Amino acid sequence: MKNIVILISGRGSNMQALLEATLPCRIAAVISNRAEAEGLDIARAHGIPAVVIEHRDYPDRDSFDAALARAIDSFAPDIVALAGFMRILGANFVSRYHGRMINIHPSLLPAYSGLDTHARALQDGVKIHGCTVHFVTRDLDHGPIIIQAAVPVLRDDNEQTLAARVLREEHRIYAQAIRWLCKDRVVLNVKGHAVLRHRKQSGHTLVSPGLE
Ligand code: GRF
Repeated sequence: MKNIVILISGRGSNMQALLEATLPCRIAAVISNRAEAEGLDIARAHGIPAVVIEHRDYPDRDSFDAALARAIDSFAPDIVALAGFMRILGANFVSRYHGRMINIHPSLLPAYSGLDTHARALQDGVKIHGCTVHFVTRDLDHGPIIIQAAVPVLRDDNEQTLAARVLREEHRIYAQAIRWLCKDRVVLNVKGHAVLRHRKQSGHTLVSPGLE
């Protein structure tokens, strides 16, 4: 059975959704770059080792990345899942976990990479928004896409209501992506594409605000 290490920085709701999902793999540890991350207590309550590697304790990105990699590798993970991990990782770190590190991002990438995705979507007046799970590459928030979920943006939405609607879908698609990875159903191929094997294509059209 494959091992997963989850990296967090804060609330940890995606991590919690993974801890509570039925996954064909073992969550070996949760690692945070902030000792105050609320998700750490949730992990401990689930009996999962929760480790802190404080980025502020290291003089530069390279030394933090090296300490983080040592902590991760001590759990011998097959998959590293970033779940609200708010540090930019250096090129060496990213290539060390090439093809086995994934991230969840709260937008339909490549739109709205970076921060404040919901506020920017509302500002632009888009009618459909969503979330993406992708392989992590050196190109921040632009790695090969594994799965996305779209949600409507409703007339009276504010940042909180839209974020909540997207977050519900994040929790579903992250577990799905990890199930596929654990069963080698999705791989990052040599051309740098995420290839999903043996998957019957399906899905539904989302029209927003809807046809009358
Ligand atoms: C999520 O919206 C995730 O997509 C983004 O940061 C947020 C983390 O939330 N990368 P949580 O810590 O998983 O609750």
